[in-house]
Amino acid sequence: MKIPLNNPYLTGNELKYMKKSMESGELVGGGEYTHKCEDLLEREFGAKKVLLTSSCTHALEMASLLVGLGSGDEVIVPSYTFVSTVNAFVLQGAEPVFVDMREDTLNMDESKVEEKISKNTKAIFPMHYSGVACAMDEIIDIADRHGLRVVEDAAQGVNAKYRDEYLGTIGDLGTYSFHGTKNYTCGEGGALVINEDGFIERAEIVREKGTNRSKFLRGEIDKYTWVDIGSSYLASELTAAFLYAQLEELEKIKKKREKTFGFYHDNLKDLEEEGKLRRPVVPEDCEVNYYSYFVLLPSEKKRNSVMEKLKNSGIQATFHYIPLHTSPMGAKFGYKKGDLPTTEKVSNRLLRLPFYTEIEKEKQKKVIEELERCV
Ligand SMILES: Cc1ncc(COP(=O)(O)O)c(C=O)c1O
Repeated sequence: MKIPLNNPYLTGNELKYMKKSMESGELVGGGEYTHKCEDLLEREFGAKKVLLTSSCTHALEMASLLVGLGSGDEVIVPSYTFVSTVNAFVLQGAEPVFVDMREDTLNMDESKVEEKISKNTKAIFPMHYSGVACAMDEIIDIADRHGLRVVEDAAQGVNAKYRDEYLGTIGDLGTYSFHGTKNYTCGEGGALVINEDGFIERAEIVREKGTNRSKFLRGEIDKYTWVDIGSSYLASELTAAFLYAQLEELEKIKKKREKTFGFYHDNLKDLEEEGKLRRPVVPEDCEVNYYSYFVLLPSEKKRNSVMEKLKNSGIQATFHYIPLHTSPMGAKFGYKKGDLPTTEKVSNRLLRLPFYTEIEKEKQKKVIEELERCV
């Protein structure tokens, strides 16, 4: 039995909506399905404005442009994140200032943020690992006291909450991913969440190659033209049609994943109590979206040997991020191994288990049995 790490879930309405979009002749983004997705996300999450984008990477790039990050600016960011969180502003000439992680949630350690602030700091980009929220109250408080912008990388946090607020709607801007590996997917896609009125008009322009085409489409002007910098960040209508079928099942998908998460969590409790592994920690003020399931093994050596043994049994379990400060690009920004001890200690012990919306119980059972055998 082969067990993949991921396997996208289909609701069954994807083709129907794509066909409708094809038959309408409306393939260019910004049409009916784009608006349906944006309206649904705004309504469900109480977001001020949501703009569908071609990826979360692009939404992060838009956020960097909107915040006005550029040469000489510094951005405080976790090292344990996907490259896009950082590339987004490095592309504009800004520099990452990496902050160490919390050992419980694996998110950026809010107690270490303030000491990283310099006269060049312009923004904080927290990333909610595996849909578990960063300590946003503390982060927003620091940002407010120092006049910094906050951009949430909620790529993995769609439909997850911190206290009473949905992830992505708490900072000045937030970003979502609908990549093929995510809870709600369209292959490649994303969204920018705009929580401050002042960014809305310019965000529409930046998404439309620096033109005021959105205003033109709404009939507010009679022709559109080049008014600012921008790029091609709009998702196509076909993508939006596919995504809408998924977003319609926002809660159904979450419930299915909750069961999968719960099954691993309950059945791995004994191994945790025996000190053989650690399970994910979800603080009380976080409501997760069950993005992934991972365990922390006692050492890197153990993690690698368990990963290899699972692989030999047909189970695709993987490591996750190589901390960015230890990467070749991290070295270019002056970082080296040893700079962020908790990030280094935790990241090399992490093992992601197969986790997807409709994974069969027998597959989960096999993963658990193999773990019991080899941890
Ligand atoms: C934390 C994080 N940020 C950004 C991204 C980029 O998302 P996308 O593939 O939609 O560009 C990902 C995707 O895996 C991610 O996990």
